[in-house]
Amino acid sequence: MLSCNLARRACRSSRAVRLLRFNHNQTSPQTDAQSSRTTHFGFQTVPEESKESLVRNVFDSVASSYDLMNDAMSLGVHRLWKDDYVSLLKPGSKGPTKCIDVAGGTGDIALRMLDFARERYADRETSVDVVDINTEMLKEGYKRFKKTMYHNTPQIAFIEGNAQALPQEQFPSNTYDLYTIAFGIRNCTSIPDVLKEAYRVLKPGGTFACLEFSRVNNPLLSALYDQYSFSIIPLLGTILAGDRASYQYLVESIRRFPPQPEFAQMIADAGFATGGMHEGKGGAWRDLWGGIASIHMGVKV
Ligand SMILES: C[S@@+](CC[C@H](N)C(=O)[O-])C[C@H]1O[C@@H](n2cnc3c(N)ncnc32)[C@H](O)[C@@H]1O
Repeated sequence: MLSCNLARRACRSSRAVRLLRFNHNQTSPQTDAQSSRTTHFGFQTVPEESKESLVRNVFDSVASSYDLMNDAMSLGVHRLWKDDYVSLLKPGSKGPTKCIDVAGGTGDIALRMLDFARERYADRETSVDVVDINTEMLKEGYKRFKKTMYHNTPQIAFIEGNAQALPQEQFPSNTYDLYTIAFGIRNCTSIPDVLKEAYRVLKPGGTFACLEFSRVNNPLLSALYDQYSFSIIPLLGTILAGDRASYQYLVESIRRFPPQPEFAQMIADAGFATGGMHEGKGGAWRDLWGGIASIHMGVKV
């Protein structure tokens, strides 16, 4: 739960850094039909309505060690991927960019986007609304931004929300130039619902961009990567964060995420214009490190 002090401080700092809550039960209504459906949580099969709280528990548990663990697990490589992602999107290049970073966690992408716009284009008007379902992750982000020049400015807001059901009153349709979601969509129960919301909140001509772990095609790299993921990452979770189960889930959830062409098709099915159904120049996605991660993009038409 959001601590009262933090909430009060956030309110006092006007619209600059907003930390808002809303009722998840209202935003994710369940019907009788839904309650009998199942989905995956890592390699487990669970009722659809349980996944959100299971995922929330994982990120509650990892929030305070998340940034350290990201560096340890990826040997710092996630930083390079995130830099590539932001360089590709070029926030600020066409004037101030209104961005929403969904499943934004501790604000890693938001900070890069604001720095990029400022350093490249002397732009101090590009803004990022960081949205996440997990208050603990947002609190870490809020703390981090307090040490930056963006704190207490209209450039950053932290807002609690579900990617699958962004409330209309807080996130009106046709609002944002750029929608980013990095290492977040695989944790959501319904990818089509996330894409539908992304499409709704973007302005016509706005860009959807997803950075996510993906499918490695080279068999040798894939075998090495599997070995690393299933033995080293849960072990690091145990040693550095005292939490093997959450890191086991993170690895398993990567394997359950659709391969690149399937995810690209889902983006196109949501109404976005994508590149061709292939990797690389002119294609719907770009692989990083042989497909360990990939960047998928689409434009709202
Ligand atoms: C692996 S972290 C990624 C954080 C950040 N984007 C980054 O790249 O460092 C995944 C984030 O997704 C959030 N998340 C999971 N399900 C969500 C949902 N349905 N709506 C919004 N955020 C969600 C989690 O709380 C967590 O902060």
